[in-house]
Amino acid sequence: MNDITKLLIAGVLVLTSTQMLANANKPHKYKHDEITKSRMALDMTETYDNRISLGFTAKEKAEFLAEMRQMLASIQGVITGIGTDDRELIVKSARYSGNRMARATPQSIKNKTPVSFEEIGGPTHMKFEELVIRAETDDMDTLAELTGEIMQNCLACHATFKVD
Ligand code: HEC
Repeated sequence: MNDITKLLIAGVLVLTSTQMLANANKPHKYKHDEITKSRMALDMTETYDNRISLGFTAKEKAEFLAEMRQMLASIQGVITGIGTDDRELIVKSARYSGNRMARATPQSIKNKTPVSFEEIGGPTHMKFEELVIRAETDDMDTLAELTGEIMQNCLACHATFKVD
């Protein structure tokens, strides 16, 4: 083996081991970054998310959020009904989120929600009932306006409360 060959072999060995070291460090470094990131997210939630927690159990949370998705579906049906001049669809869609939903809310959830929550939630269901009645007679512009008013309640409550 001449000197140049020896030098080349040594060079390859150094390069390979450097690469191995770098690789060995990678997963560790990645994990560390991930942990730091999720801690930061947690801190940010605690610092910046000032909404009031309703403190639901996992089951209550699932039931409650299912109701919420139903409310979104109601809004979707109502808007489509207004756009297509379909009064039946407006009535059917609004009815889902009216008093029927208020009655179906599990008692354990009702027991946990504060008065300030019910002050927004109760009238929201009532407004859906109002929409059911007014869908029989009012023109579509007025119904669109009423739907916008209902959605003020969605916004107000979402800005104030969280389930976690
Ligand atoms: C009285 C309070 C209140 C009212 C009124 C309300 N919501 Fe909610 N909604 C909540 C809370 C609390 C959450 C959970 C938010 C969180 O934890 O980040 C939620 C979550 C949701 C979600 C997410 C569901 C999921 O699966 O994650 C949808 C969709 C939703 N609401 C739609 C609506 C619509 C549409 C309206 C109005 C027609 C409405 N909500 C009115 C309190 C309310």
